[in-house]
Amino acid sequence: MRNQLKTPDMLRSNRWLAANDFRSFNHRSRFMQMGYGPEDWEGRPIIAILSTWSDLNPCHHHFKERIEDVKRGIYQAGGLPVELPCMSLFESIVKPSALLYRNLLSMEVEELLRSYPIDGVVLMGGCDKTTPGLLLGAISMNLPTIFIPAGPMIKGNYRGETLGSGSDAFKYWDEYRAGNVSEEELEGICGGIGRSVGTCMTMGTASTMTAVVESLGMSLPGSSSIPAADKCHNRMCAEAGRRIVDMVWKDYAPDQILTRKSFENGISIAMAMGGSTNAIIHIIALARRAGINVALDDFDRISREVPVIANVRPSGDKYLMEDFYYAGGILALMMRIKDFLHLDAQTVSGKTISENIKNAEVYNDDVIRPLDDPIYKEGSLAVLKGNLAPDGCVIKASACNPKLLKHTGPALVFDDYPSYKAVMNNEDLEVTEDHILILRNAGPKGGPGMPEWGMLPIPTKLVKQGVRDMVRISDARMSGTSYGACILHVAPESFIGGPLALVKTGDMISINVAERKIHLEVSEKELAFRKKELKLGEPKYQRGYGWMYSKYVLQADEGCDFEFLLNSYGATPGEPDI
Ligand code: FES
Ligand code: MG
Repeated sequence: MRNQLKTPDMLRSNRWLAANDFRSFNHRSRFMQMGYGPEDWEGRPIIAILSTWSDLNPCHHHFKERIEDVKRGIYQAGGLPVELPCMSLFESIVKPSALLYRNLLSMEVEELLRSYPIDGVVLMGGCDKTTPGLLLGAISMNLPTIFIPAGPMIKGNYRGETLGSGSDAFKYWDEYRAGNVSEEELEGICGGIGRSVGTCMTMGTASTMTAVVESLGMSLPGSSSIPAADKCHNRMCAEAGRRIVDMVWKDYAPDQILTRKSFENGISIAMAMGGSTNAIIHIIALARRAGINVALDDFDRISREVPVIANVRPSGDKYLMEDFYYAGGILALMMRIKDFLHLDAQTVSGKTISENIKNAEVYNDDVIRPLDDPIYKEGSLAVLKGNLAPDGCVIKASACNPKLLKHTGPALVFDDYPSYKAVMNNEDLEVTEDHILILRNAGPKGGPGMPEWGMLPIPTKLVKQGVRDMVRISDARMSGTSYGACILHVAPESFIGGPLALVKTGDMISINVAERKIHLEVSEKELAFRKKELKLGEPKYQRGYGWMYSKYVLQADEGCDFEFLLNSYGATPGEPDI
């Protein structure tokens, strides 16, 4: 362990502020322009608060106020807080996909931290891609870092009925299409789903990733379960402010916390929570930035061992994150699955997982289930392989109709989302519930950015017949709040000529989740012929960030990072001393 105490003259910010040369004179002068004097910076760590607040991100609307709590903690501990706003990715509105911008956020974080006189970092995020985006950049810079999760919003409500964000939007939209919900009711549901600041309170990507990041050791113990509107959240923010200053003096950085063991803990938590499929992509990317090779097989192995015990929708049947918090939250869940965790893994608290959970208790066994009465016994997130997905694809088996886990049916192929949207309401669409809907050109490079189109709506004709689930296969992703027999992240993707590009309408496809298999029932000879005939499409972006993204993004099974951001790609120079 490094953990030697830093002296004030060892602070990184001193390189900007302490020297007796023209540059430092100028930097000090500019600090004075901000109203600071030497007593504000001398011997005090400068702590960056990277906040992803924006007017267009309701999940983070409270950050403006919570930053003041973080600052309070930093001042109390003798640091100087500086607020550096960065890209705010609001999952529900950013088009075509917030994942497209996750890597841009990570680059922004890394370069902000590199170029400014920063000694330690508090990251404030939570809405889906902001969590991995912030952390990826911070891992690459490796300054002492704490992640503050935004916290879930309170439960939705309409006419006395609990509503879950995402999941109930999908559900009631289907009921509206089926004629079971009126326009007036739909309007009420629309307003009742999101009633406070905070992230989606279902087990979507936000709740999954903030829990994962806590279990990696990068957030204060218990922080990820605190509802955004709860005053405990303010106190947690102040505590993070105090703690980060201490971490700077101890030079306690991500490289001392993130190990293979911590990533295995992260995967186990994602499984026990019944987490989002998106977590797979993010955990792989985070691990690889930390120089640890986590692969799809790690997820499949761990998912066969760890049961889903968090009874939170959509894998669970009725509860939401607020209930999960009252039932003991993440620490109680960790206590329950402790035999599957590496308890000696370190955390930002300076303590091990074992020490963090020692007083944790479950207060409601229906919300956090005992191991012998799980929501889903094993394989909640299953990895399938076969000739249709040689590098793998994933299915959230815990959130789909069990009868579809073994299925053979004819393909109905769509080359892009608009062509499906154009016909999905047609009464004469030739489709039955046995069909398998295929969507392509929605992968990392083709989308680009793997939009969350993988839960293709069931054709309206079938919805009216009462069908609520069918098999869908794509190289897209789906929201963590989605559900259904959606096979996602097919790799390699169709846009670069992966086998998904070779499927024709009417081809038979078999899936067998228990055996982890997916098979396109077409001969190798015919597939080779189709491959020769295949014409690849042009990238959608011809310039700018989208162009760069398509060119450098890695496939889903590799975490969709940019290849040039991996540590193995090459070195970054330190700060020039001028
Ligand atoms: Fe922000 Fe779901 S839209 S967390
Ligand atoms: Mg989401």
